[in-house]
Amino acid sequence: MTQADFVVVANRLPVDHTPDGEGWRRSPGGLVTALEPVMRRAEGAWVGWAGQADVDVEPFEFDGTYLVPVTLSAADVQLYYEGFSNDTIWPLYHDVIAAPTYKRAWWDAYVKVNKRFADAAASVAAEGGIVWVQDYQLQLVPKMLRELRPDLTIGYFHHIPFPAYGLYAQLPWRKQVLEGLLGADVIGFQRVADAGNFARAVRRQLRYETKASGILVPDGDGATRVALAKAFPISIDAESYVELAQKPEIQQRAKEIREGLGNPRKILLGVDRLDYTKGIRHRLKAWGELLEDGRAHVEDATLVQVASPSRERVDAYVQLRDEIEMTVGRINGDHDTTTHTAIRYLHQSYPREEMVALFLAADVMLVTALRDGMNLVAKEYVASRTDNRGVLVLSEFAGAADEMGSALLINPHDIDGLKDAIVRAIDMPAAEQGRRMRTLRKRVREHDVEDWSRGFLEALSVFHERSSSAAAA
Ligand code: G6P
Repeated sequence: MTQADFVVVANRLPVDHTPDGEGWRRSPGGLVTALEPVMRRAEGAWVGWAGQADVDVEPFEFDGTYLVPVTLSAADVQLYYEGFSNDTIWPLYHDVIAAPTYKRAWWDAYVKVNKRFADAAASVAAEGGIVWVQDYQLQLVPKMLRELRPDLTIGYFHHIPFPAYGLYAQLPWRKQVLEGLLGADVIGFQRVADAGNFARAVRRQLRYETKASGILVPDGDGATRVALAKAFPISIDAESYVELAQKPEIQQRAKEIREGLGNPRKILLGVDRLDYTKGIRHRLKAWGELLEDGRAHVEDATLVQVASPSRERVDAYVQLRDEIEMTVGRINGDHDTTTHTAIRYLHQSYPREEMVALFLAADVMLVTALRDGMNLVAKEYVASRTDNRGVLVLSEFAGAADEMGSALLINPHDIDGLKDAIVRAIDMPAAEQGRRMRTLRKRVREHDVEDWSRGFLEALSVFHERSSSAAAA
Protein backbone atom coordinates (compact mmCIF):
# COMPACT_ATOMS: atom_id res chain seq x y z
CA MET A 1 0.00 0.00 0.00
CA THR A 2 1.05 3.57 -0.69
CA GLN A 3 2.59 5.36 2.29
CA ALA A 4 1.88 9.05 2.85
CA ASP A 5 3.70 11.64 4.96
CA PHE A 6 0.48 13.56 5.52
CA VAL A 7 -2.82 11.84 6.27
CA VAL A 8 -6.25 13.32 6.94
CA VAL A 9 -8.75 11.15 8.79
CA ALA A 10 -12.38 12.29 8.64
CA ASN A 11 -15.75 10.58 8.89
CA ARG A 12 -16.43 11.39 5.25
CA LEU A 13 -14.14 11.07 2.24
CA PRO A 14 -13.74 14.26 0.18
CA VAL A 15 -15.65 12.63 -2.70
CA ASP A 16 -19.06 11.14 -3.27
CA HIS A 17 -20.61 9.03 -6.01
CA THR A 18 -21.70 10.76 -9.19
CA PRO A 19 -25.51 10.59 -9.68
CA ASP A 20 -25.14 7.63 -12.11
CA GLY A 21 -23.26 5.76 -9.36
CA GLU A 22 -20.41 5.01 -11.80
CA GLY A 23 -17.68 7.44 -10.76
CA TRP A 24 -16.63 9.86 -8.05
CA ARG A 25 -16.78 13.61 -7.80
CA ARG A 26 -15.34 16.05 -5.28
CA SER A 27 -17.91 16.79 -2.58
CA PRO A 28 -18.69 20.44 -2.01
CA GLY A 29 -17.99 20.61 1.75
CA GLY A 30 -15.88 23.29 3.44
CA LEU A 31 -13.33 20.88 4.86
CA VAL A 32 -12.60 19.45 1.43
CA THR A 33 -11.89 22.86 -0.06
CA ALA A 34 -9.99 23.83 3.08
CA LEU A 35 -7.56 20.98 2.82
CA GLU A 36 -7.29 20.74 -0.95
CA PRO A 37 -4.18 22.94 -1.31
CA VAL A 38 -2.43 21.22 1.60
CA MET A 39 -3.25 17.78 0.23
CA ARG A 40 -1.90 18.66 -3.20
CA ARG A 41 1.37 19.98 -1.85
CA ALA A 42 1.89 17.05 0.48
CA GLU A 43 0.74 14.24 -1.85
CA GLY A 44 -1.35 13.20 1.08
CA ALA A 45 -3.81 10.45 1.85
CA TRP A 46 -7.39 10.80 3.13
CA VAL A 47 -9.06 8.11 5.23
CA GLY A 48 -12.87 8.28 5.36
CA TRP A 49 -16.28 6.78 4.70
CA ALA A 50 -17.80 6.95 1.21
CA GLY A 51 -21.20 7.93 2.65
CA GLN A 52 -23.13 4.73 1.85
CA ALA A 53 -23.51 1.57 3.90
CA ASP A 54 -21.75 -1.62 2.89
CA VAL A 55 -19.80 -0.08 0.03
CA ASP A 56 -16.47 -1.87 -0.05
CA VAL A 57 -13.98 -0.01 -2.24
CA GLU A 58 -10.23 -0.45 -2.61
CA PRO A 59 -8.04 2.64 -2.03
CA PHE A 60 -7.74 4.81 -5.14
CA GLU A 61 -6.14 7.99 -6.37
CA PHE A 62 -8.36 11.04 -6.94
CA ASP A 63 -7.03 14.41 -8.08
CA GLY A 64 -3.62 13.93 -6.50
CA THR A 65 -4.95 12.52 -3.20
CA TYR A 66 -4.78 8.87 -2.19
CA LEU A 67 -8.22 7.94 -0.85
CA VAL A 68 -8.58 5.13 1.67
CA PRO A 69 -12.26 4.16 2.07
CA VAL A 70 -13.43 2.80 5.42
CA THR A 71 -16.42 0.48 5.10
CA LEU A 72 -19.41 0.97 7.41
CA SER A 73 -22.12 -1.69 7.56
CA ALA A 74 -25.78 -0.68 7.82
CA ALA A 75 -25.55 -1.45 11.56
CA ASP A 76 -22.42 0.75 11.92
CA VAL A 77 -24.22 3.62 10.22
CA GLN A 78 -27.15 3.21 12.59
CA LEU A 79 -25.17 2.83 15.83
CA TYR A 80 -21.93 4.78 15.28
CA TYR A 81 -23.05 7.54 12.88
CA GLU A 82 -26.79 8.13 13.46
CA GLY A 83 -26.66 6.92 17.06
CA PHE A 84 -23.57 7.88 19.03
CA SER A 85 -22.25 10.63 16.74
CA ASN A 86 -25.51 12.35 15.89
CA ASP A 87 -27.91 11.43 18.71
CA THR A 88 -25.48 11.44 21.66
CA ILE A 89 -22.46 13.67 21.01
CA TRP A 90 -24.09 16.18 18.62
CA PRO A 91 -26.97 17.21 20.95
CA LEU A 92 -24.79 17.03 24.09
CA TYR A 93 -22.07 19.23 22.58
CA HIS A 94 -24.68 21.71 21.31
CA ASP A 95 -25.85 22.48 24.84
CA VAL A 96 -28.58 19.79 24.89
CA ILE A 97 -30.89 21.83 22.60
CA ALA A 98 -32.27 18.36 21.88
CA ALA A 99 -31.99 15.66 24.54
CA PRO A 100 -28.98 13.37 24.00
CA THR A 101 -29.60 9.63 24.13
CA TYR A 102 -27.06 7.48 25.95
CA LYS A 103 -26.98 3.89 24.76
CA ARG A 104 -24.24 1.43 25.58
CA ALA A 105 -24.60 -0.40 22.27
CA TRP A 106 -23.99 2.92 20.44
CA TRP A 107 -20.86 3.56 22.47
CA ASP A 108 -19.55 0.04 21.71
CA ALA A 109 -20.06 0.67 18.00
CA TYR A 110 -18.34 4.07 18.27
CA VAL A 111 -15.27 2.43 19.86
CA LYS A 112 -15.23 -0.31 17.23
CA VAL A 113 -15.58 2.06 14.27
CA ASN A 114 -13.03 4.54 15.66
CA LYS A 115 -10.60 1.62 15.87
CA ARG A 116 -11.26 0.82 12.21
CA PHE A 117 -10.39 4.40 11.22
CA ALA A 118 -7.27 4.32 13.43
CA ASP A 119 -6.13 1.03 11.85
CA ALA A 120 -6.62 2.42 8.36
CA ALA A 121 -4.65 5.57 9.22
CA ALA A 122 -1.89 3.51 10.86
CA SER A 123 -1.45 1.42 7.75
CA VAL A 124 -1.24 4.33 5.29
CA ALA A 125 0.91 6.78 7.31
CA ALA A 126 4.63 6.77 6.50
CA GLU A 127 7.24 6.47 9.28
CA GLY A 128 7.37 9.74 11.24
CA GLY A 129 4.42 11.16 9.29
CA ILE A 130 1.75 13.67 10.27
CA VAL A 131 -1.89 12.65 10.74
CA TRP A 132 -4.71 15.16 11.09
CA VAL A 133 -7.93 13.74 12.57
CA GLN A 134 -11.18 15.69 12.03
CA ASP A 135 -14.22 16.15 14.21
CA TYR A 136 -16.47 14.60 16.83
CA GLN A 137 -17.18 11.33 15.02
CA LEU A 138 -13.55 10.32 15.62
CA GLN A 139 -12.64 11.51 19.11
CA LEU A 140 -11.03 8.20 20.11
CA VAL A 141 -8.80 7.95 17.05
CA PRO A 142 -5.90 10.11 18.37
CA LYS A 143 -5.21 7.82 21.35
CA MET A 144 -5.76 4.61 19.37
CA LEU A 145 -3.40 5.84 16.68
CA ARG A 146 -0.70 6.90 19.14
CA GLU A 147 -0.78 3.40 20.64
CA LEU A 148 -0.44 1.80 17.22
CA ARG A 149 2.11 4.28 15.88
CA PRO A 150 4.08 6.27 18.50
CA ASP A 151 6.30 7.63 15.70
CA LEU A 152 3.48 9.78 14.25
CA THR A 153 2.70 13.41 15.00
CA ILE A 154 -1.06 13.66 15.54
CA GLY A 155 -3.38 16.64 15.25
CA TYR A 156 -7.12 16.76 15.93
CA PHE A 157 -9.55 19.52 15.00
CA HIS A 158 -12.96 19.77 16.64
CA HIS A 159 -15.39 21.49 14.26
CA ILE A 160 -18.32 21.74 16.70
CA PRO A 161 -18.58 23.35 20.15
CA PHE A 162 -17.08 21.72 23.23
CA PRO A 163 -19.67 22.12 26.00
CA ALA A 164 -19.37 23.57 29.49
CA TYR A 165 -18.28 21.06 32.12
CA GLY A 166 -21.70 20.83 33.78
CA LEU A 167 -23.12 19.42 30.54
CA TYR A 168 -20.10 17.42 29.44
CA ALA A 169 -20.15 15.61 32.77
CA GLN A 170 -23.39 13.86 31.70
CA LEU A 171 -21.52 11.68 29.23
CA PRO A 172 -21.16 8.18 30.73
CA TRP A 173 -17.88 7.77 28.78
CA ARG A 174 -16.54 11.24 29.60
CA LYS A 175 -13.11 9.99 30.72
CA GLN A 176 -12.54 7.76 27.70
CA VAL A 177 -13.42 10.57 25.29
CA LEU A 178 -11.01 13.03 26.95
CA GLU A 179 -8.26 10.40 26.94
CA GLY A 180 -9.01 9.69 23.29
CA LEU A 181 -8.59 13.34 22.32
CA LEU A 182 -5.45 13.74 24.42
CA GLY A 183 -3.75 11.19 22.19
CA ALA A 184 -3.20 14.16 19.85
CA ASP A 185 -0.27 16.58 20.12
CA VAL A 186 -2.44 19.53 19.09
CA ILE A 187 -6.19 19.63 19.78
CA GLY A 188 -7.77 22.51 17.89
CA PHE A 189 -11.10 24.18 18.73
CA GLN A 190 -13.22 26.86 17.05
CA ARG A 191 -13.39 29.29 19.97
CA VAL A 192 -11.21 30.16 22.95
CA ALA A 193 -14.23 29.20 25.12
CA ASP A 194 -14.29 25.67 23.64
CA ALA A 195 -10.60 25.13 24.42
CA GLY A 196 -11.28 26.44 27.95
CA ASN A 197 -14.22 24.06 28.44
CA PHE A 198 -12.06 21.17 27.29
CA ALA A 199 -9.17 22.06 29.64
CA ARG A 200 -11.59 22.33 32.55
CA ALA A 201 -13.09 18.91 31.80
CA VAL A 202 -9.56 17.46 31.68
CA ARG A 203 -8.68 19.00 35.07
CA ARG A 204 -11.92 17.85 36.68
CA GLN A 205 -12.11 14.36 35.23
CA LEU A 206 -8.50 13.31 34.77
CA ARG A 207 -6.78 15.60 37.30
CA TYR A 208 -4.13 16.55 34.75
CA GLU A 209 -2.39 19.87 35.12
CA THR A 210 -2.93 22.58 32.50
CA LYS A 211 -0.68 25.59 31.87
CA ALA A 212 -1.98 28.25 29.47
CA SER A 213 -2.78 26.17 26.35
CA GLY A 214 -0.62 23.24 27.44
CA ILE A 215 -1.95 20.07 29.06
CA LEU A 216 0.49 17.79 30.90
CA VAL A 217 -0.37 14.26 29.84
CA PRO A 218 1.19 11.30 31.72
CA ASP A 219 2.75 9.11 29.06
CA GLY A 220 3.65 5.89 30.89
CA ASP A 221 6.82 5.23 32.90
CA GLY A 222 6.29 8.42 34.90
CA ALA A 223 7.06 10.57 31.84
CA THR A 224 4.81 13.43 30.77
CA ARG A 225 4.29 15.06 27.40
CA VAL A 226 2.60 18.35 26.66
CA ALA A 227 -0.48 18.47 24.43
CA LEU A 228 -1.63 21.82 23.08
CA ALA A 229 -5.38 22.66 23.30
CA LYS A 230 -6.08 25.93 21.54
CA ALA A 231 -8.51 27.87 19.35
CA PHE A 232 -7.94 27.87 15.57
CA PRO A 233 -11.16 29.36 14.13
CA ILE A 234 -11.91 27.81 10.75
CA SER A 235 -12.70 29.89 7.69
CA ILE A 236 -13.60 29.66 4.00
CA ASP A 237 -11.85 30.00 0.66
CA ALA A 238 -12.92 33.66 0.51
CA GLU A 239 -11.35 34.41 -2.90
CA SER A 240 -13.42 31.75 -4.64
CA TYR A 241 -16.59 33.50 -3.38
CA VAL A 242 -15.25 36.88 -4.52
CA GLU A 243 -14.57 35.45 -7.99
CA LEU A 244 -18.03 33.91 -8.31
CA ALA A 245 -19.70 37.09 -7.06
CA GLN A 246 -18.00 39.07 -9.84
CA LYS A 247 -19.22 36.82 -12.67
CA PRO A 248 -21.85 38.55 -14.85
CA GLU A 249 -23.88 35.34 -15.17
CA ILE A 250 -24.13 34.99 -11.39
CA GLN A 251 -25.12 38.63 -10.99
CA GLN A 252 -27.72 38.07 -13.69
CA ARG A 253 -28.98 35.01 -11.81
CA ALA A 254 -29.33 37.13 -8.65
CA LYS A 255 -31.61 39.50 -10.59
CA GLU A 256 -33.68 36.58 -11.84
CA ILE A 257 -34.09 35.31 -8.29
CA ARG A 258 -35.38 38.72 -7.22
CA GLU A 259 -37.80 38.87 -10.16
CA GLY A 260 -38.96 35.34 -9.43
CA LEU A 261 -39.97 36.49 -5.97
CA GLY A 262 -42.07 39.32 -7.37
CA ASN A 263 -39.40 42.04 -7.00
CA PRO A 264 -39.87 42.70 -3.28
CA ARG A 265 -38.03 45.73 -1.90
CA LYS A 266 -36.09 43.51 0.50
CA ILE A 267 -35.09 39.84 0.45
CA LEU A 268 -34.17 38.09 3.70
CA LEU A 269 -32.25 34.83 3.51
CA GLY A 270 -31.56 31.84 5.76
CA VAL A 271 -29.28 29.00 4.62
CA ASP A 272 -28.80 26.02 6.89
CA ARG A 273 -28.63 22.29 7.07
CA LEU A 274 -32.03 21.36 8.46
CA ASP A 275 -30.75 21.02 12.03
CA TYR A 276 -32.27 21.95 15.42
CA THR A 277 -29.07 23.81 16.35
CA LYS A 278 -29.65 26.41 13.62
CA GLY A 279 -32.54 28.25 15.27
CA ILE A 280 -34.73 28.03 12.16
CA ARG A 281 -37.91 27.87 14.30
CA HIS A 282 -36.92 31.02 16.21
CA ARG A 283 -36.28 32.82 12.94
CA LEU A 284 -39.67 31.75 11.52
CA LYS A 285 -41.40 32.77 14.73
CA ALA A 286 -39.85 36.25 14.60
CA TRP A 287 -40.71 36.67 10.91
CA GLY A 288 -44.26 35.38 11.38
CA GLU A 289 -44.84 37.84 14.24
CA LEU A 290 -43.46 40.79 12.26
CA LEU A 291 -45.98 40.03 9.51
CA GLU A 292 -48.74 39.54 12.08
CA ASP A 293 -47.89 42.82 13.83
CA GLY A 294 -47.93 44.66 10.50
CA ARG A 295 -44.29 45.74 10.93
CA ALA A 296 -43.48 43.80 7.72
CA HIS A 297 -45.54 43.08 4.58
CA VAL A 298 -45.17 40.34 2.00
CA GLU A 299 -45.36 42.79 -0.90
CA ASP A 300 -42.37 44.56 0.58
CA ALA A 301 -40.18 41.77 2.00
CA THR A 302 -39.79 38.01 1.53
CA LEU A 303 -37.84 35.44 3.51
CA VAL A 304 -36.06 32.75 1.47
CA GLN A 305 -35.21 29.77 3.65
CA VAL A 306 -32.91 27.12 2.21
CA ALA A 307 -32.92 24.10 4.53
CA SER A 308 -30.73 21.38 3.09
CA PRO A 309 -31.70 17.80 3.96
CA SER A 310 -29.56 16.30 6.73
CA ARG A 311 -29.43 13.14 8.91
CA GLU A 312 -32.91 12.22 7.80
CA ARG A 313 -33.09 8.99 9.74
CA VAL A 314 -32.42 10.52 13.16
CA ASP A 315 -35.71 11.12 15.06
CA ALA A 316 -35.00 14.67 16.20
CA TYR A 317 -34.42 15.66 12.55
CA VAL A 318 -37.62 13.99 11.35
CA GLN A 319 -39.60 15.88 14.01
CA LEU A 320 -37.88 19.17 13.29
CA ARG A 321 -38.74 18.91 9.62
CA ASP A 322 -42.41 18.33 10.41
CA GLU A 323 -42.51 21.32 12.77
CA ILE A 324 -40.78 23.65 10.37
CA GLU A 325 -42.89 22.65 7.41
CA MET A 326 -46.08 23.07 9.41
CA THR A 327 -44.97 26.52 10.59
CA VAL A 328 -44.01 27.61 7.07
CA GLY A 329 -47.37 26.37 5.77
CA ARG A 330 -49.26 28.32 8.43
CA ILE A 331 -47.36 31.57 7.95
CA ASN A 332 -47.68 31.38 4.18
CA GLY A 333 -51.34 30.47 4.43
CA ASP A 334 -52.00 33.52 6.59
CA HIS A 335 -49.95 36.06 4.66
CA ASP A 336 -49.30 35.07 1.03
CA THR A 337 -50.96 36.90 -1.81
CA THR A 338 -51.33 35.53 -5.32
CA THR A 339 -48.14 37.34 -6.32
CA HIS A 340 -46.02 37.42 -3.15
CA THR A 341 -44.99 34.93 -0.51
CA ALA A 342 -43.98 35.32 3.14
CA ILE A 343 -41.50 32.45 3.03
CA ARG A 344 -40.03 30.69 0.03
CA TYR A 345 -39.02 27.41 1.64
CA LEU A 346 -36.53 25.18 -0.20
CA HIS A 347 -35.73 21.75 1.27
CA GLN A 348 -32.88 21.24 -1.18
CA SER A 349 -29.14 21.60 -1.64
CA TYR A 350 -27.65 23.85 -4.30
CA PRO A 351 -24.30 24.20 -6.05
CA ARG A 352 -22.06 27.00 -4.89
CA GLU A 353 -22.85 29.19 -7.94
CA GLU A 354 -26.54 29.27 -7.03
CA MET A 355 -25.69 29.98 -3.38
CA VAL A 356 -23.61 33.01 -4.35
CA ALA A 357 -26.48 34.27 -6.54
CA LEU A 358 -28.77 33.94 -3.51
CA PHE A 359 -26.25 35.78 -1.32
CA LEU A 360 -26.12 38.60 -3.86
CA ALA A 361 -29.90 38.78 -3.99
CA ALA A 362 -30.23 38.87 -0.18
CA ASP A 363 -30.43 42.27 1.50
CA VAL A 364 -30.46 40.63 4.93
CA MET A 365 -28.78 37.37 5.91
CA LEU A 366 -30.21 35.67 9.01
CA VAL A 367 -27.89 33.38 11.01
CA THR A 368 -29.83 32.62 14.20
CA ALA A 369 -28.10 29.46 15.48
CA LEU A 370 -28.80 28.48 19.08
CA ARG A 371 -25.32 26.97 19.15
CA ASP A 372 -22.87 26.53 16.28
CA GLY A 373 -19.18 25.63 16.17
CA MET A 374 -18.41 28.38 13.62
CA ASN A 375 -21.14 28.88 10.93
CA LEU A 376 -19.42 29.26 7.61
CA VAL A 377 -22.55 30.61 5.89
CA ALA A 378 -22.00 33.91 7.73
CA LYS A 379 -18.51 34.09 6.23
CA GLU A 380 -19.66 33.00 2.76
CA TYR A 381 -22.29 35.76 2.71
CA VAL A 382 -19.89 38.58 3.53
CA ALA A 383 -17.18 37.22 1.20
CA SER A 384 -19.72 37.28 -1.65
CA ARG A 385 -20.80 40.90 -1.01
CA THR A 386 -18.13 42.55 -3.17
CA ASP A 387 -20.57 45.49 -3.47
CA ASN A 388 -20.23 46.14 0.30
CA ARG A 389 -24.00 45.99 0.69
CA GLY A 390 -26.25 43.74 2.73
CA VAL A 391 -26.70 43.19 6.45
CA LEU A 392 -25.63 40.15 8.44
CA VAL A 393 -27.79 39.36 11.47
CA LEU A 394 -25.69 36.93 13.50
CA SER A 395 -26.33 34.89 16.62
CA GLU A 396 -23.87 35.45 19.44
CA PHE A 397 -24.00 31.67 19.97
CA ALA A 398 -22.25 30.96 16.66
CA GLY A 399 -18.45 30.75 16.82
CA ALA A 400 -18.35 33.29 13.96
CA ALA A 401 -19.59 35.99 16.37
CA ASP A 402 -16.14 36.08 18.02
CA GLU A 403 -14.68 37.46 14.77
CA MET A 404 -17.69 39.26 13.32
CA GLY A 405 -18.57 41.92 15.86
CA SER A 406 -19.65 44.31 13.09
CA ALA A 407 -22.66 42.16 12.29
CA LEU A 408 -25.97 42.86 14.06
CA LEU A 409 -25.43 40.43 16.93
CA ILE A 410 -28.57 38.86 18.38
CA ASN A 411 -29.73 36.41 21.03
CA PRO A 412 -32.11 34.13 19.08
CA HIS A 413 -34.00 33.19 22.27
CA ASP A 414 -35.03 36.82 22.66
CA ILE A 415 -37.73 36.92 19.98
CA ASP A 416 -38.52 40.62 20.53
CA GLY A 417 -34.82 41.48 20.24
CA LEU A 418 -34.58 39.37 17.09
CA LYS A 419 -37.62 41.10 15.57
CA ASP A 420 -36.13 44.53 16.29
CA ALA A 421 -32.82 43.48 14.72
CA ILE A 422 -34.60 42.23 11.59
CA VAL A 423 -36.47 45.54 11.23
CA ARG A 424 -33.25 47.46 11.82
CA ALA A 425 -31.49 45.35 9.16
CA ILE A 426 -34.30 45.92 6.65
CA ASP A 427 -34.15 49.68 7.22
CA MET A 428 -30.38 50.10 7.56
CA PRO A 429 -29.04 53.05 5.53
CA ALA A 430 -26.58 52.15 2.76
CA ALA A 431 -23.71 54.02 4.42
CA GLU A 432 -23.99 51.99 7.61
CA GLN A 433 -24.31 48.75 5.62
CA GLY A 434 -21.10 49.65 3.81
CA ARG A 435 -19.17 50.46 7.01
CA ARG A 436 -20.13 47.21 8.67
CA MET A 437 -19.70 45.07 5.57
CA ARG A 438 -16.21 46.41 4.84
CA THR A 439 -15.00 45.49 8.32
CA LEU A 440 -16.53 42.02 8.08
CA ARG A 441 -15.10 41.40 4.63
CA LYS A 442 -11.64 42.50 5.67
CA ARG A 443 -11.55 39.96 8.47
CA VAL A 444 -12.80 37.06 6.31
CA ARG A 445 -10.41 37.82 3.46
CA GLU A 446 -7.43 38.16 5.79
CA HIS A 447 -8.25 35.08 7.81
CA ASP A 448 -9.25 32.62 5.11
CA VAL A 449 -9.19 28.86 5.23
CA GLU A 450 -5.60 28.64 4.09
CA ASP A 451 -4.62 30.84 6.99
CA TRP A 452 -6.54 28.45 9.27
CA SER A 453 -4.85 25.27 8.05
CA ARG A 454 -1.44 26.98 7.99
CA GLY A 455 -1.87 28.10 11.61
CA PHE A 456 -2.89 24.64 12.78
CA LEU A 457 -0.18 22.83 10.84
CA GLU A 458 2.49 25.24 12.05
CA ALA A 459 1.55 24.47 15.64
CA LEU A 460 1.70 20.78 14.79
CA SER A 461 5.06 21.07 13.03
CA VAL A 462 6.70 22.11 16.31
CA PHE A 463 5.84 18.67 17.67
CA HIS A 464 6.89 17.02 14.42
CA GLU A 465 10.34 18.65 14.49
CA ARG A 466 10.79 17.63 18.10
CA SER A 467 9.95 14.01 17.39
CA SER A 468 12.07 13.91 14.20
CA SER A 469 15.13 15.17 16.07
CA ALA A 470 14.44 12.70 18.91
CA ALA A 471 14.24 9.88 16.35
CA ALA A 472 17.52 10.99 14.75
CA ALA A 473 19.36 11.20 18.11
C1 G6P B 1 -21.09 19.53 10.64
C2 G6P B 1 -20.00 18.65 11.20
C3 G6P B 1 -19.32 17.85 10.11
C4 G6P B 1 -20.35 17.13 9.25
C5 G6P B 1 -21.36 18.12 8.69
C6 G6P B 1 -22.44 17.45 7.84
O1 G6P B 1 -20.55 20.58 9.93
O2 G6P B 1 -19.06 19.39 11.94
O3 G6P B 1 -18.42 16.90 10.66
O4 G6P B 1 -19.72 16.42 8.21
O5 G6P B 1 -21.96 18.79 9.78
O6 G6P B 1 -23.08 16.44 8.56
P1 G6P B 1 -23.07 14.91 8.09
O7 G6P B 1 -23.63 14.17 9.25
O8 G6P B 1 -23.93 14.87 6.86
O9 G6P B 1 -21.64 14.53 7.77
